[in-house]
Amino acid sequence: MLHIEQNKSLKNYNTFGLDVNAAHFTSIHSIGELIAVLKDDYFSDIQKMFLGGGSNVLLTKDFHGLIIHNNLKGIEVVERDSDFVFVKAASGEVWHDFVLYCIENGFGGVENMSLIPGSVGAGPMQNIGAYGVEMKDVFHELEALNLATLEIEKFSNADCKFGYRESVFKNEKKNQYFITTVNFRLSLHPTVNTTYGAIQQQLQTMNVEHPSIKNVSDAVIAIRSSKLPNPAVLGNSGSFFKNPEISVSEYERLKNEFPNVVAYPTNNGYKLAAGWLIEQCGWKGKVVGNCGSHKDQALVLVNYGNASGGEIYQLALAIQQSVLDKFMVEITPEVNIYA
Ligand code: EPU
Repeated sequence: MLHIEQNKSLKNYNTFGLDVNAAHFTSIHSIGELIAVLKDDYFSDIQKMFLGGGSNVLLTKDFHGLIIHNNLKGIEVVERDSDFVFVKAASGEVWHDFVLYCIENGFGGVENMSLIPGSVGAGPMQNIGAYGVEMKDVFHELEALNLATLEIEKFSNADCKFGYRESVFKNEKKNQYFITTVNFRLSLHPTVNTTYGAIQQQLQTMNVEHPSIKNVSDAVIAIRSSKLPNPAVLGNSGSFFKNPEISVSEYERLKNEFPNVVAYPTNNGYKLAAGWLIEQCGWKGKVVGNCGSHKDQALVLVNYGNASGGEIYQLALAIQQSVLDKFMVEITPEVNIYA
């Protein structure tokens, strides 16, 4: 039985804590409920928006359509051999709860992605990643409902066309599918990845010489907690912009003019630290009205309590423009903007 609420505040459904209203709102607990709402004649001509953890969206105004909130739950081991285990998680599971489940069971691969806000389903959508590991490294396959045919389809790792914070679901298949489950390939004999400098330092501080996946998870939690604001306390959606990818010649131009530029080599050029670019433009820790750039991580925009989505959007545009003016580099948002 579908339960539809009218004129519902979305304040508790987006990690920026923005108080915008949805004309209609429903939370789905099964694929049957999802199909029922998509088939409902009353909503056939009404715009629909899917919402998971709400950790990657900036809502700048009321939404006049129907919000479909993902509440699909469940985690199960579907296959196991001597080396690997395949674990299927429903897309509405909280990502960090899934990570904790893996650590408790000794399943390795996701520990570096501890404490990333959001739901399991958002993971492949934008190929989440942190501290040297990305979703694509542990992803086996997913199931998604085709919104046109209402049939479930499977996507392999290659089908998802993962890139840096990119997938087929943000590009050519945008708005065509609803991810229902994600199947992960995890290691039963984990070797930890501590290549990221900050993890090594944190493990030293914790006096850990031979880290377990639990140790790595604890280290990542400590690092994130020390510099990324907790959305439950201060509204934010993690990195607001992506780190821009530039060519070798563009990097050389920048390095010449700004010898301290922070950049990492990639397969075909460099990735620039957007946090550094933003800090150099004087934004770090700056408060503008009810929002600002965070004092410990310039790439994170925060809501000090009463900001509107429009205010945060204006701040983002001003930051984007100043980075362009100073460095001739374009930074693009990582969050989805509803404007
Ligand atoms: N930096 C500054 N000033 C700042 C912030 C960063 O100079 O205010 C420079 C520093 O040199 C620092 C470097 O930028 O060493 C990199 O910063 P950090 O390690 O915090 O990582 P990031 O590149 O800013 C990315 C992801 C994060 C992820 C971390 C760790 C993106 C857009 N962000 O941030 O992901 O947690 O690496 O792997 O790729 C997210 O996507 O929402 C997110 C938080």
